[in-house]
Amino acid sequence: MTKPFVFITRQVPEESLVALKVVADVEVWPEKETPVPRELLLEKAAKAAGLYTMLSDKIDDELLNNAPNLKVVANLAVGFDNIDVKTASEKGVAVCNTPDVLSDTTADLTFALLMATGRRIVEAAEYVKEGKWQNWAPLLLAGTDIHHKTIGIVGMGRIGSAVAKRATGFEMEILYHNRSRNTKAETELGAEYVSFDDLIERSDYIVCLAPFTEDTKDLFTYETFKQMKSSAIFINASRGGVVVEEDLIKALEEKSIAGAGLDVFRQEPISKDHPLLTFSNVVALPHIGSSSVETRHEMAALVSRNIANVLKGDKPEAIVNEEVLG
Ligand code: DGY
Repeated sequence: MTKPFVFITRQVPEESLVALKVVADVEVWPEKETPVPRELLLEKAAKAAGLYTMLSDKIDDELLNNAPNLKVVANLAVGFDNIDVKTASEKGVAVCNTPDVLSDTTADLTFALLMATGRRIVEAAEYVKEGKWQNWAPLLLAGTDIHHKTIGIVGMGRIGSAVAKRATGFEMEILYHNRSRNTKAETELGAEYVSFDDLIERSDYIVCLAPFTEDTKDLFTYETFKQMKSSAIFINASRGGVVVEEDLIKALEEKSIAGAGLDVFRQEPISKDHPLLTFSNVVALPHIGSSSVETRHEMAALVSRNIANVLKGDKPEAIVNEEVLG
């Protein structure tokens, strides 16, 4: 009996495919970094029962409407804003993601980005490498403290809570804003629920971890940055689309805020000529929130199990549109 066809849009750890290969005929786009061309993705989707996708693959209505056998799209990410979930649900296609397994790793990176921006770590490391370090000086590359400052977390889900947990170790005051109250974070981590405006005005570090949705699109505008303390540092580890980048650039030019740490951008990858890279007080990373070897292996294994389970008619561990399971 022929097995259902699954197309994987990037090279992933081979050992993570074992479970999947039992139930499916698997084809892998053989590139580690280059995305599969759109035309080829459409061609593969047209005959696939499963698609194993990256957050950079656009799974839109054009693709979904031309994929008659498709049963599951499983993203190697917790975010799934690259997938048209509404159309997928209408077509009965399960959309799966990788929550939980990456929360601590993404929180580690987010906190590292916060610390790197606040304490000017990247700038300082470059200073040494470029041979500029001639003398010790009292205020040489002086940054801003992290301990005992106020962190404002926008999006207090699993990753936000893990960031808050790290902030407790630095004895920070923790404010958060979220669609709904997170009473666990309030009782266990001492986080205070505040309005978005309150958070923006009171925080020393504003950290965005909210998922990218119609509600969070363009959430951070020029007005938002103007509302922040001039000593505030903005950290974004969610999606680039939550920020109006021209507005962030203007705010940085006017020194309305003290710096920004960015793991995500509106259009990824950014080029080396991107205006945000001209600021010494901007730390820019190539969207590596969940990128530790251990976590990427766990994520890859979870994606495989998600696809295998859907194809076997079992409930996958992580599904975004449970209603399609009937
Ligand atoms: C995700 O999984 O959505 C993260 O952005 C990856 O780093």
